[in-house]
Amino acid sequence: MSTVLLVLAHPNPDSLNGATATSIEKALTERGHEVRMKDLYRTGFDPILSFRDFGAWQEGKVPDDVAKEQQDIAWADALVFVYPIWWHERPAILKGWIDRTFTKGFAWDFDDTGRVGKLKGKKAFVAATYGSPESIYNELDVDMENLFSSVEKGTLAFCGIQETQFVDEFGVLMQERETNEKYLKRATEAAVAFLN
Ligand SMILES: Cc1cc2nc3c(=O)[nH]c(=O)nc-3n(C[C@H](O)[C@H](O)[C@H](O)COP(=O)(O)O)c2cc1C
Repeated sequence: MSTVLLVLAHPNPDSLNGATATSIEKALTERGHEVRMKDLYRTGFDPILSFRDFGAWQEGKVPDDVAKEQQDIAWADALVFVYPIWWHERPAILKGWIDRTFTKGFAWDFDDTGRVGKLKGKKAFVAATYGSPESIYNELDVDMENLFSSVEKGTLAFCGIQETQFVDEFGVLMQERETNEKYLKRATEAAVAFLN
């Protein structure tokens, strides 16, 4: 059984993404995993990396609110992220949570040999929805093979997290509710399989 930190980045818990996070939390808990749900819009965590973070970092410390988040990250065998795609990326609140919590010395470092991924051994699962259908991305000549590279490579692999899975759904603003419910089910089943 795993310890799972489930991070939701959506302002509305009743949205498709909110429902997906709730469904994943329930399914994982039912299978005996220990799940901590972190609904970023409700935790009150300030996602803006400000001057105080830099000051603390230079002194080799982190602010108390960051240290608290890092305890949850350190505790988890697996990180699960659930979010809508906003401007081709994670919502800013999630990006900011990562900016502030994946600090040098905690999540990564440099040594004589180069980069050290300090979150090595953890797994990460990502479920994300696109409002637009895939055809719009094709029209824009987007590299569909590397949609998640900033998350997969630039964040997770950089910090040593190699075992990852991404589940996504296009066109959620245009398609039938039943189709979106199928996505919710698919994402939940994939999360369960990933953590087994
Ligand atoms: C600020 C903002 C930016 C968005 N950017 C994108 C985008 O780049 N690509 C896309 O396909 N959809 C985009 N969308 C649509 C969201 O992805 C869509 O509303 C979401 O996936 C629907 O899930 P929900 O019902 O859980 O909110 C954007 C929506 C917002 C509010």
